[in-house]
Amino acid sequence: MTSHELRTGFLEFFRGVNHLVIPGSSLVPQDDPTLLFANAGMNQFKGVLLGEMASPAPRVATVQKCLRVSGKHNDLEEVGTDEHHHTFFEMLGNWSFADYYKAEAIEFAWNYLTKEVGLDPNRLWATVHTSDDEARDLWPKISGISPTRVLTFGDKDNFWEMGEVGPCGPCTEIHYDLGPGLGPDYPAAGPNDPRFRRWIELWNLVFIQFRREPDGSLTPLSNRCVDTGMGFERLLALLQGVDGNYRTDLFAPIMARLSAKLGGSRTFETDPVAFRAIADHVRALTFAIADGVTPSNDGRGYVLRRILRRAARYGRKLGIEDPFLHELSAAVVAAMGIDYPELSPAAPHVAAVIEAEERSFATTLDRGLSLFGRETAQVRSTGGTTIPGDVVFRLYDTFGFPPDLTHLMAREEGLSTDMEGFTRRMEVQREHSRLASGGADTGVGGAARPGGGGIFVGYETLEVETEVVSTDPEWGISQGEEGWVVLRESPFYAEGGGQVSDEGALRGEGFDAEVQQAVRTSDGLACMVKVREGILRPGMPAHATVDQGRRFRVQAHHTGTHLLHAALRAVLGMHVRQAGSLVAPERLRFDFTHFGPMKDDEIAHVENLVNGWVNDDRPVMVRTEVPLSEAREAGALAFFGEKYGDAVRVITVPGVSMELCGGTHMDRTARIGPLRILSESGIAAGTRRIEAVSGMALLDRATVLERQLTAISKILGGQGDDPVDRAERLRERMKALEAEMAAARAASAAATARRALDSAVDIGGIRLGVVELEGAGRPELRAAGDIARNSYLRTVLIAAARGDSDVHFLVAVTDDLVAEGIHAGKLVSALAQRAGGKGGGRPHLAEAGARLSPQSSAVIESLPHEGAALIGEIRRA
Ligand code: ALA
Repeated sequence: MTSHELRTGFLEFFRGVNHLVIPGSSLVPQDDPTLLFANAGMNQFKGVLLGEMASPAPRVATVQKCLRVSGKHNDLEEVGTDEHHHTFFEMLGNWSFADYYKAEAIEFAWNYLTKEVGLDPNRLWATVHTSDDEARDLWPKISGISPTRVLTFGDKDNFWEMGEVGPCGPCTEIHYDLGPGLGPDYPAAGPNDPRFRRWIELWNLVFIQFRREPDGSLTPLSNRCVDTGMGFERLLALLQGVDGNYRTDLFAPIMARLSAKLGGSRTFETDPVAFRAIADHVRALTFAIADGVTPSNDGRGYVLRRILRRAARYGRKLGIEDPFLHELSAAVVAAMGIDYPELSPAAPHVAAVIEAEERSFATTLDRGLSLFGRETAQVRSTGGTTIPGDVVFRLYDTFGFPPDLTHLMAREEGLSTDMEGFTRRMEVQREHSRLASGGADTGVGGAARPGGGGIFVGYETLEVETEVVSTDPEWGISQGEEGWVVLRESPFYAEGGGQVSDEGALRGEGFDAEVQQAVRTSDGLACMVKVREGILRPGMPAHATVDQGRRFRVQAHHTGTHLLHAALRAVLGMHVRQAGSLVAPERLRFDFTHFGPMKDDEIAHVENLVNGWVNDDRPVMVRTEVPLSEAREAGALAFFGEKYGDAVRVITVPGVSMELCGGTHMDRTARIGPLRILSESGIAAGTRRIEAVSGMALLDRATVLERQLTAISKILGGQGDDPVDRAERLRERMKALEAEMAAARAASAAATARRALDSAVDIGGIRLGVVELEGAGRPELRAAGDIARNSYLRTVLIAAARGDSDVHFLVAVTDDLVAEGIHAGKLVSALAQRAGGKGGGRPHLAEAGARLSPQSSAVIESLPHEGAALIGEIRRA
């Protein structure tokens, strides 16, 4: 059975017992900033299990890609050391949402394992929670296994929880007995005995009954659900009869590629740890990058960076010097693309991202390794066993070694690492950079900013009577100068959440200034002003006014962004989520997760939905100080890159959208005006970008376009004509002219070639014609060759042409000379060599090319001489 057959067979089995088969989710969890990567099939149903969301169907089955590298479930440390740890793996699962319960769940699992895939019933064991008499009694009744093979365990083994909070419940697990060679018989050992790997856990059936609260208490849920998860790779290994997960068909192509790369010198058998780790990591990288994550310095991106650098270091250990992981990712796509359609279209992007990241690490990898080597020797020579925190820090800071990589390398050497020392060094570093930046945010425009104060009043008003608290320079800003100002109250929105900063004016007794930009500082707000008249000093009363027209355009686009987000989710699916945005006066840009380009009708559908909501004139409601947990429970969308405080601001368009957002908005949807999507494009694998424009900005754009159209019509002439028809005719005419020109060029090249052939020189009985055809391409060269061969005897033609960046040569030899052994291919190749290029071909006609360079130009300029020399050589040979 292949991996593909196992996946589809599983889903078919559950479809057969009335489950709705749906796709697993993206590796990047939607709407759950608490989770870095999907780590179980139930993630996408968390809201359903908690009774907060409607279920897609009462019974559901999926195959879910998972990555366990962070948080509660993290296996990275162990990957490579054995046959069963993975970072990336697949989970087979079936769910009942308040439909069937324990008896059916057990029956489905039993039938699947024993009847569908044919595991030996005598090797299966069950475990249940100590409190779950019901499940314990059901097992022998349903499966017929002896009650002695149903064991009870406590919370540690048989109570499953997604995380610190969330859905949970007692579970029953199915274990498979690999046989007596791997450990003693029960009761000396048994399932869950950590000393032996004789039993492997195959399937976990969780009876979701509770929700774990932040205070640790359990609240019973009104619906009782079933959540199951089976280890795909383990089951596959059993069914393929191989000795471990890494020996299944999932990994075979990757291992083969890696061996081939090593020329067979080192193999899975000689270096199992490196082979497994690399194969695992390349799967994780391929899937995560295809789902839109890229290596970076924090969050998900840093997880990828750690995985990649770990794999790159294993590559070095195997003796691979060049980037290679990107080549292996192709093997992952080949092995799994059939069931994961997102992989193939993303493959070029995935390979490019991996290769770029490998290259960037390669520049420091070797130097880091040699530092590590020296330090290890140093530790050993002093009888120590611990790599100091300072060294871990230097490897991290200077050479880009993630601390867990250094830890792993130390472990391989039988040493430990001082991670506390490392953390202390990191803190010192942070403090240094904080002091260096004057305690403020990272500089905007490089200028220093004053600290302190300023209350933002720009949600409520666009104008305020206030006072200048401080300026930078501190004595004041005079006419013609720029500087920073802190106001007691400021109506100017400081750039944030994708929305650009406000602009406006600041006026008072004796000064008039332009506000160019507002920024957030570590403790308040500041704005950059340019004084047009007078002098602006601390303590002065001031009247601050936001440029209202500009603000309204920005707000229209911000509210438009929320509507667009909602429409995209409605049209493309709930996997769509915001990945970034720019909300400016002229337009909006919205980045979101989605696979593949949108179809034209999808774009039209999204645009229509948004404009429908605009036309409905719905209110845009703002609620402030909403507890984060409450907002989340209500289903408000959060932007996963963003950090939120405990109390958040929620923007709601009833029946359409609810988002956490700190930006400013129109109070009703109609005020956005019509919205038009200008473009949709891909910016990274799994990430799309829409540019759109609405309202007054759309009118501006229409004005510009109209003017352009009028101008174009004028240029095209033909008054009153439809400019499209007119342009069409012009294009036809242009095509005809181009064809005429090409014909004329060919005729002129033919005439030139004929002249050259008529005046060919005789070299030892061979007529040599030489010609440079100016402006000619390869078709003209070939036409010249045909003329030589069809109309002359005992003739060699050497023709050349120079293009913008390269040169072409052609050599033609008439048949009578071919019969004597004169070979056009050899001649052209010798010629090309002199010109610094290459080429060759058949005895009667051959071509070559070279880059345009002084060397190749020189060859063309002395073509008669070069040609004669070549013929002479042949004659002599
Ligand atoms: N959610 C359960 C698990 O991951 C089935 O084990």
